[in-house]
Amino acid sequence: MSSTETPDDAAASAGSRPDQALEARLQAIEAAARFHNVELDRDELRIPRGRMPEPAALVAWVRDGGLWARAVRMRFGQLLKVEVASPVILLLRDGSAAILTTADPARNIVWLKDPRAPSSDPPVPVDELRLSQVWGGETLLIRAQREITDENAPFSFLWVWGVVRKESKLLRDMFLGSFALALLTLVPPIIVMTTLDRVLTYRSVSTLALVGIFFAVALLYETILNYTRRKITYVVGARVDAKISLHVFKRMLRLPLDYFERQQAGEITYKVAQVNKIRDFMTGKMMSTMLDMVALVVLIPVIFVLQPTLAWITLVCAGLVALIIMAYMGPVSRAIGRWIAAETQKSSVLVETLHGIRTVKSLALEPQQRDLWDRRTATSVQLKLEASEISNWPQTLANPIEGVMSRGIVLIGALLAISSPGSVDPGTLIGFMMISGRVAAPLIGLARLMDDLQEVRLAVGFVQSVINQPPERANPAAGLRPKIEGGLSFNAVSYTYPGTKTRALDGVTFEVAPGTILGLVGKSGSGKSTIARLLQGITRDYEGFLKLDGNDLREVNLAHLRRNFGVVLQENFLFRGTIRENIIAGRPGLTLTDAVRAARLAAAEEFIERMPNGYETWIEEGSPNLSGGQRQRLAIARALIHDPRLLILDEATSALDPESESLVNANLTRIGKGRTMVIVSHRLASLTDCHQILVLDRGKVLDMAPHPVLLERCTVYRQLWLQQNRHLETPTPPRGGVPVLAQGD
Ligand SMILES: Nc1ncnc2c1ncn2[C@@H]1O[C@H](COP(=O)(O)OP(=O)(O)OP(=O)(O)O)[C@@H](O)[C@H]1O
Ligand SMILES: [Mg+2]
Repeated sequence: MSSTETPDDAAASAGSRPDQALEARLQAIEAAARFHNVELDRDELRIPRGRMPEPAALVAWVRDGGLWARAVRMRFGQLLKVEVASPVILLLRDGSAAILTTADPARNIVWLKDPRAPSSDPPVPVDELRLSQVWGGETLLIRAQREITDENAPFSFLWVWGVVRKESKLLRDMFLGSFALALLTLVPPIIVMTTLDRVLTYRSVSTLALVGIFFAVALLYETILNYTRRKITYVVGARVDAKISLHVFKRMLRLPLDYFERQQAGEITYKVAQVNKIRDFMTGKMMSTMLDMVALVVLIPVIFVLQPTLAWITLVCAGLVALIIMAYMGPVSRAIGRWIAAETQKSSVLVETLHGIRTVKSLALEPQQRDLWDRRTATSVQLKLEASEISNWPQTLANPIEGVMSRGIVLIGALLAISSPGSVDPGTLIGFMMISGRVAAPLIGLARLMDDLQEVRLAVGFVQSVINQPPERANPAAGLRPKIEGGLSFNAVSYTYPGTKTRALDGVTFEVAPGTILGLVGKSGSGKSTIARLLQGITRDYEGFLKLDGNDLREVNLAHLRRNFGVVLQENFLFRGTIRENIIAGRPGLTLTDAVRAARLAAAEEFIERMPNGYETWIEEGSPNLSGGQRQRLAIARALIHDPRLLILDEATSALDPESESLVNANLTRIGKGRTMVIVSHRLASLTDCHQILVLDRGKVLDMAPHPVLLERCTVYRQLWLQQNRHLETPTPPRGGVPVLAQGD
């Protein structure tokens, strides 16, 4: 197409060929992503064959690539106003797309570029009429992700407060309501004062009636306002709760795997659950105290007008109570801290026991676990008592002062009335008592709040200790997204686990071409699983170079890497759901047909079909209705479903019975077609078909060659082989003779 053609001409010519239109649309999006230095991977765009992708699918595709994207509907007038800092993509009616490069409001035209035209071609001007013939308003906006987003902000008290504050409209309503309520609280005292002073003194029934009506109306208002205030509090609480939960969970998922390996699950659960305490505090006590403080603005001046001396006494008493509570803040929080630490320990016993309940039962470890639980509970109860003892003191000390404030004030008022007649009349005294209670409560509440704040600070600390750990990647979107073929190259790779001295891998060097089936053998602890871990990017602080198709593995985007990998371990977790759902594992765009194909490859088809409901058979958590071997084959099918370029099987077949193992093994070559496979196995017989076998010993590479060659020249391998195959007179040569080194199929 020549550069003089306008995009609508282009669209018209492409209209008859939907494939080309789609191609243009994808190219436009790729070009926009490339503008932000992101290479999108078509494999990640899962669209039903022959169907146009929905804009939502396109948005998801771009977002997976780590960019900000949004599908919107725009009018021509809005297009003119767009500040084109990055390309804007117009999704044309025929399924293709055009890229908006500039808008010229003065001339009422926009400049568009055809994604299929060579990049040297200049954009073409298009006016509203011509554009409206091909474009219905569907637009895709793509921008670079901002570095510091809410998601990356460290968790803190202020962060939570920020979330609460975002509900500004509701909060404002709440404060206005509280202010109105504060005014209404003045009503009962005024009524009492009036009744006492006027109604009783002058015996006026009409005043009483008026006061009654006034009272009723005020009561009604107060009820409604209180209802609304509570309701708003719930709404704010629920919204804040949802936001915080989402954030915390997302952040937790971003933590590296080795963090979870180092920490007890019970401890993490307990710590993360503390976030509820923070939210409850903020939307509950803190909020209501702050709202009550609003009332002070109204009430304090009123009590000073009523009786200054008594007002001062009230304030001084409230201040004293506050001082007492503050003085005890430190010791109380330390005691609570000790108690919470004990609680954490206690809950980790519970989690551990539940987690390992099979082992506990089968080894009859119940008494030991009960004993441990007993001891931890005793410690916890003891510390809780100590903490309560300490926090009992400030309340005890404050009690008499509060008594003086609420009841003693009558005596003092009476004394004042006697000593200087006329300064206080009975109505005023009663009214004062009623109001001063409302003044003291929030002031004391504020001090108590400080007390609670200590506990909440502790909770914040707990949540922080999990959530603010460095994530796997500071920016999950960063990194290369190369097309993965499966070529592996280790160059002097060494790795030492944190906290250990010996190297788990020591100068490992080897190379395999894409499509190789690589077996890893070696004694227990020789570093086989560690190699698998490095490949998956679980640990990235190794020495040396590890390259995937020539790209440094550390530079590759983690999500992209893992999406292109399939991993099956010795123990695999199956989620609650049907067999089909477990195989598809939530990957969009996959159907039962894909699940069946994967199951067949994993030799799982045979037993699935014998299940009562076939692929729709329900699996409970922990899959009690499946045998170990069946679970394993499902896990293999799950790993195969998205046709990974690199498949890692770490002892994946060790739980299988000889029959299903040989079924899987017979399929290995088929499974391995078109991908690189790394198979760790203790049973050497299952590795004889591998193109290459890497022999590891204490983290070092001893040799790498096909089975017959190793048998000839590698002593360790021969020993291992003979140990396992003593019953065979002569080692069996692999089927099909000597495999060719690193062949592509
Ligand atoms: N999470 C870990 N923390 C500390 N050291 C570890 C950790 N995992 C493994 N190691 C150590 O690293 C070394 C290699 O372990 P690796 O799991 O790679 O062995 P392996 O060859 O897979 O053994 P096996 O055949 O028993 O699975 C071992 O000495 C082990 O003690
Ligand atoms: Mg292992």
